[in-house]
Amino acid sequence: MTPSYLEIAIEIAREAGGLLSHYFERRVGFELKGEFDLVTEADRASERLIVERLCSRFPSHAIVAEEGSGHDSPSEYRWYVDPLDGTTNFAHGFPIFNVTLALERDGETICGVIYDPIHLELFTAERGGGAFLNNHRIQVSKTRQLSEALVATGFPSRKRHLNVNVHFYHQLAMATHGVRRGGSAALDLAWVACGRLDAFWEFGLNPWDMAAGLLLVEEAAGAASDMKGGPASLRGPHVAVSNRAIHAEMVALFGDIFANRLRWPLPQISE
Ligand code: IPD
Ligand code: CA
Ligand code: CA
Repeated sequence: MTPSYLEIAIEIAREAGGLLSHYFERRVGFELKGEFDLVTEADRASERLIVERLCSRFPSHAIVAEEGSGHDSPSEYRWYVDPLDGTTNFAHGFPIFNVTLALERDGETICGVIYDPIHLELFTAERGGGAFLNNHRIQVSKTRQLSEALVATGFPSRKRHLNVNVHFYHQLAMATHGVRRGGSAALDLAWVACGRLDAFWEFGLNPWDMAAGLLLVEEAAGAASDMKGGPASLRGPHVAVSNRAIHAEMVALFGDIFANRLRWPLPQISE
């Protein structure tokens, strides 16, 4: 029987994940792409491997890969590849990172994989087929109120001086049980899908960061939108996902913050 797209994506993600753990144990050095934006030998080696495997299996498919070695042709099928999501963590020996791949057909994500090779956790989803962690079906949490939620966000390394998320961080930290900042957007999304987190939002993510994770959240019965409640888009300026039950409450709070109606003023610093 011919393997499915998902099966092939899993095989490739596992192979790339093995490579990442090998580099992680050797503590490879990093280079700077921008002032704070890191890249390691592992990002490049993982991307080389993934692009090579995808090209040999699917020569006609387009590939959009973060480190630039793909080829975005006008194909019905397009792969999004983040060969190492969580590079800053990886470079510092902080064990939260993953490799993620997703396949889009005519603009709709049809399958996605997020593999965490340190904790041996494989998150997978196919459109209409549910979401899974190591082959066990997963579902979003049952938390009913934002005040009882554990949520997560992230901050980009690029153009960080333009990022307004610190305002959102403070308001959400006040409104919930807490805000986590794990440093890997794909895992943040996967952890909403399996109920470890109740919600996640971030500004300025790229399609390769979130294609697989958004599908996982949707297939785990969660909700995905932009932070203003409009449709979620891989190319949108921001994204918000949740267990669905707290989505409207969270988007309403975001609305207040966008309008500069801060429910909790930032405390003054005194000596
Ligand atoms: C980053 C991580 C991080 C998020 C950044 C992303 P990278 O991806 O997902 O959690 O906050 O916005 O760029 O650069 O490590 O692949
Ligand atoms: Ca990433
Ligand atoms: Ca990356």
